[in-house]
Amino acid sequence: MAQMGLQWPNVGPLVQSAHTGDGLRMQNDVTEPQIAFLRSLSVFRDLSDEALRYLAAGSRQRAFQAGEIICYQGDPGSTCHIIVQGRVRIFVVGEDGQELSVRFLGRGDIFGEMALFDDLPRSANVQALENTRTLELHRDVLLGCLRQSPALALSLLRALSERLRHATEGAGDLASLTVVERLLRRLRQLAEWAGTPATDGVRITLPLNQQELATLIGTSRESVNRALVQLRRQGKVRLENGWIVLLETP
Ligand code: CMP
Repeated sequence: MAQMGLQWPNVGPLVQSAHTGDGLRMQNDVTEPQIAFLRSLSVFRDLSDEALRYLAAGSRQRAFQAGEIICYQGDPGSTCHIIVQGRVRIFVVGEDGQELSVRFLGRGDIFGEMALFDDLPRSANVQALENTRTLELHRDVLLGCLRQSPALALSLLRALSERLRHATEGAGDLASLTVVERLLRRLRQLAEWAGTPATDGVRITLPLNQQELATLIGTSRESVNRALVQLRRQGKVRLENGWIVLLETP
């Protein structure tokens, strides 16, 4: 889509200060690999070079260790992140302290955008599941780009619609499926998302213990344990060095 000649708002791009590590300064150099990387993400696929250059100049690289909390539910938020490498878990904590994992996100996915759109506190916690690198964009940069680029607006709407569908599906599953059925369905989704071929099926290469599986399907660790025993007896899964192998094509 041709978008030459747009007037981008005069927002100072953000990069980590070389001196203090926490300050912000202008960055003028945008490299071709940065542009190429942004274009490789489905959310930015249709953007003009000019828009991508603006986004790249207004982003800074961040790195998080496995287990690190990136955003806390309830905190104010002024930036969003695009995942360059690694995976994160979106989760909420109930009144009783029980965690519910809402979604896992990976390379190319965006998170932290909701607080920028509705100006409300963070809707959920975001935790790095493995060592993760992101590009962080300030609200002014993202919103500035959105005002100029219908392609980006459509793309983000598509991503948000997909998340809403997923959440609706999850609510439906909770109401109508047994724990065993919910677990199997979730394992199939994970195998599709983070699976590697095994001799007899698909290995789910995510560091998930039974408690974490339980937070994904809204049940207890004990119920997950029983459901896994049942799925193993039915020949639908097996365990291999701590990984779950799904013994069927997802
Ligand atoms: P924000 O509310 O700013 O911070 C937490 C982030 O978690 C949120 O933005 C979204 O990016 C992400 N998030 C919250 N709920 C969901 C969901 N149902 N599906 C996918 N991502 C979500």
